[in-house]
Amino acid sequence: LKEIDPDRTAFHFQPSKNWLNDPNGPMYYKGLFHLFYQYNPDGPLWGNMAWGHSVSTDLVNWEALDVALDRTDPFDINGVFSGSVTFVAGEPVILYTGIDDQQRNVQNIAFRKNGSDPLLREWSKSGYNPIMLPVGDIDPDNFRDPTTGWFGQDGHWRTAIGANLEGRAEILLYKSQNFKNWTRNEFPLHKSQSSGMWECPDFFPVSLSSKDGLDPSVNTGNIKHVLKVSLMKTLQDYYLVGKYDEKKDVFVPDEWYKDDYRTWPMIDYGHVYASKSFFDSKNNRRIFWSWVNESDSEADDVKRGWSGMQTFPRAIWLDTDGKQLIQWPIEDIKLLRKQQIQLRDFGLQSGVKHEISGILTSQADVEVEFELPSLEGAESFNNSFLLDPSKLCDEITPSDEGGIGPFGLFVLTSDVEGQEEYTAIYFRIYKSSDRYMTLMCSDLKSSSRREGVYKPAHGAFVGVDISKDKRISLRTLIDHSVVESFVGGGRTCMTMRVYPKHVLTGQTSGLYVFNHGSQEVKIRELNAWEMAKARVNIENDDFISR
Ligand code: FRU
Repeated sequence: LKEIDPDRTAFHFQPSKNWLNDPNGPMYYKGLFHLFYQYNPDGPLWGNMAWGHSVSTDLVNWEALDVALDRTDPFDINGVFSGSVTFVAGEPVILYTGIDDQQRNVQNIAFRKNGSDPLLREWSKSGYNPIMLPVGDIDPDNFRDPTTGWFGQDGHWRTAIGANLEGRAEILLYKSQNFKNWTRNEFPLHKSQSSGMWECPDFFPVSLSSKDGLDPSVNTGNIKHVLKVSLMKTLQDYYLVGKYDEKKDVFVPDEWYKDDYRTWPMIDYGHVYASKSFFDSKNNRRIFWSWVNESDSEADDVKRGWSGMQTFPRAIWLDTDGKQLIQWPIEDIKLLRKQQIQLRDFGLQSGVKHEISGILTSQADVEVEFELPSLEGAESFNNSFLLDPSKLCDEITPSDEGGIGPFGLFVLTSDVEGQEEYTAIYFRIYKSSDRYMTLMCSDLKSSSRREGVYKPAHGAFVGVDISKDKRISLRTLIDHSVVESFVGGGRTCMTMRVYPKHVLTGQTSGLYVFNHGSQEVKIRELNAWEMAKARVNIENDDFISR
């Protein structure tokens, strides 16, 4: 019998065992969703990189298939790294990075082997690999992660690849007429002096007038383009919104842009990396995943036999302001909602901590809307924190007595005396010379009494103007060792890993709303659902014969 693993999630994507990192080649094809991912078939730490593969009909329940791409040839013998899927003449084609027999990053192509297998289990690597080499000024150690291809008006395909050129980050653009012979474009799609190597680029069009997703080749109509990059330097994902100039094949970020990554919006202000999206043609939406790494020790990974997970799939679209992305857990999550608890028009006086009881809160979906009677008591803002909200969250605590806030949630709590644990997700409102600033913190400092756990505070200034209706919404998905939060309808997202100790001895976790500001805060409405367990990559599965 297997021991119970308290860190295992109920509805997040994880393989049944071993190491996972980046999402690779997500797609929808003939009734099935496919997710590939960076996978170590032999153990719970990074290494032996291959593409794991799972399929789903609803993006919630997943069935594991065999490894789709393993290290087999001189062009990928030292690793099958990240990549993407493109539909070429309706057929899915994989572009991926191989680490070749000379330890260089090279780009390769693979086609489905058996045209009649609906599960796309087997892939054949082309005999003409590698299709792109790190020649000239490209650093052979840093040339990887081809994006999904898109097709231009001139009848050429394009793909974009992260690269390092003499210390400069560039997203190189390659063009091809037949998806086989590729030539590097004169200009990179985009470049930066300030930020080190960019991994895992993602490049896609977004609509200015609807939440619908767009096929990657769309470049007409009321649209903009988004370039997402993963910065090796900070291990965070950032995005830029702008226009794609198809003639020159360059991305032109919006006017406010400057080459200083500290000013760029982040996909998630918590602990995620290497995100990737795809166009879900079944539901006309763009869907997004990110890798959520562990933040406890390697010894813990070895002990539990697995490491890493994906964020719950998020729909992603451009806000009506044309500036920021909105991410929201896909509606399909409602399949898992069970018992519900509701609070309405509930006053949270200064100093109050109120328990949300009656459901299992280690596996929950919580939506809450706070209202502030006035903004009068807001404390003044110290500008030195503008570029580093996490530092501010690190210096303050959720128990401080503030003006407006701290108020928010305590999740995964234990009240046992001497063994208290809590993770705080909270807000505090400040006033700067010309505006109100809403600080959001996810504070892990008291989240775990286990040894060797990294327990930072993450912070962000929320992308909503609180002075408009004095309301702020928070949605939090709690799933044992991962907590994902979405503020202002998904304008600011924050994900972190939590490893409470109290669950190891079988104690259940608590959930609270609290207010430690001097001013009362109102809960207009709170809905919390206990969540069912999804079927995620359960071993010895009978899906294929069913
Ligand atoms: C990002 C990354 C990619 C690479 C892969 C290797 O996490 O470093 O650049 O393709 O992981 O596993």
